[in-house]
Amino acid sequence: MHTPVLLNQVIEAMEIKKDGLYVDATLGEGGYTKAIIEKGGKVLAIDLDTEQIDRYNIETLERSNGVKLVQGNFREIEKIAKENNFFPVDGVVFDLGLSMRQISQSGRGFSFKKLFEPLDMRMNSNNEMTAEYLLNHLSESELFDVFAKNSEEINSQKIAREVVIRRQLRRLEKVGDLTGCIDRAIGEIDNNAYKRIFQALRIEVNDEFENLKNGLEGAMKIIKEDGKVAVVTFHSIEDRMVKNFSRGMGIKLLNKKVIMNRRGRSFEKSAKLRVLIREVDQRSLSR
Ligand SMILES: C[S@@+](CC[C@H](N)C(=O)[O-])C[C@H]1O[C@@H](n2cnc3c(N)ncnc32)[C@H](O)[C@@H]1O
Repeated sequence: MHTPVLLNQVIEAMEIKKDGLYVDATLGEGGYTKAIIEKGGKVLAIDLDTEQIDRYNIETLERSNGVKLVQGNFREIEKIAKENNFFPVDGVVFDLGLSMRQISQSGRGFSFKKLFEPLDMRMNSNNEMTAEYLLNHLSESELFDVFAKNSEEINSQKIAREVVIRRQLRRLEKVGDLTGCIDRAIGEIDNNAYKRIFQALRIEVNDEFENLKNGLEGAMKIIKEDGKVAVVTFHSIEDRMVKNFSRGMGIKLLNKKVIMNRRGRSFEKSAKLRVLIREVDQRSLSR
């Protein structure tokens, strides 16, 4: 099993209680879910990707006592928790993005290294929108918006133009078709540009920023007073969203300073953890 980055920091910050209720909003390969169970907590685990749920079931078989698995989108976390009679909860954890297994084995074109995979990029294969559709149908300015807004890639304009030129010759279908456009637009091979553009498209296909916004709002509605919401992000825009959200009414941050796991020297590539606490309503204490 893959051990998620910041696992120890998240589990320590959450202060898991025996028989406490926890939502793992991003099951993935189950690292957080298993750690919470080991500490005696009960888990409702959600994942958008059916394959992740199926694999967890197969790998844990009878040993997954204390876990309820739900295929769904964490943007509906409040509805999912209530439908499963699993609230109010002591904690929620979001570990955003993709798991290693999805990148290396899903065959859905998440990695710029898998040149012959289709440009799919859906976490939920029941959704209609794919990266291929966006690349072949959006106008140049719409593509520019997707690249620039979701990735802040400085060559977004040139890449959008190259995509539109190339697709007039042949529909873009495979990962290699997109990396080819990026190469021609920039005039060199640039792994960081590939990463940013692939991430930007994936974010658009899966509506990830909107999911996060709704997921955080929903988490605050199911959490007990003093309950904790831990969020691990890998993207500066998402971290900013969490930070801004933490300035809302009745919410405070456990650590003023973000907890990081720096990969290499780049700040952008780091995993960042913020833990939000629902503050105790002072009025309820004085009643
Ligand atoms: C970084 S992985 C989580 C890894 C996990 N913590 C582990 O220990 O293996 C993120 C997971 O969240 C899922 N996911 C992403 N967005 C989601 C959403 N909006 N709702 C539910 N699951 C989502 C992905 O399919 C992926 O399995």
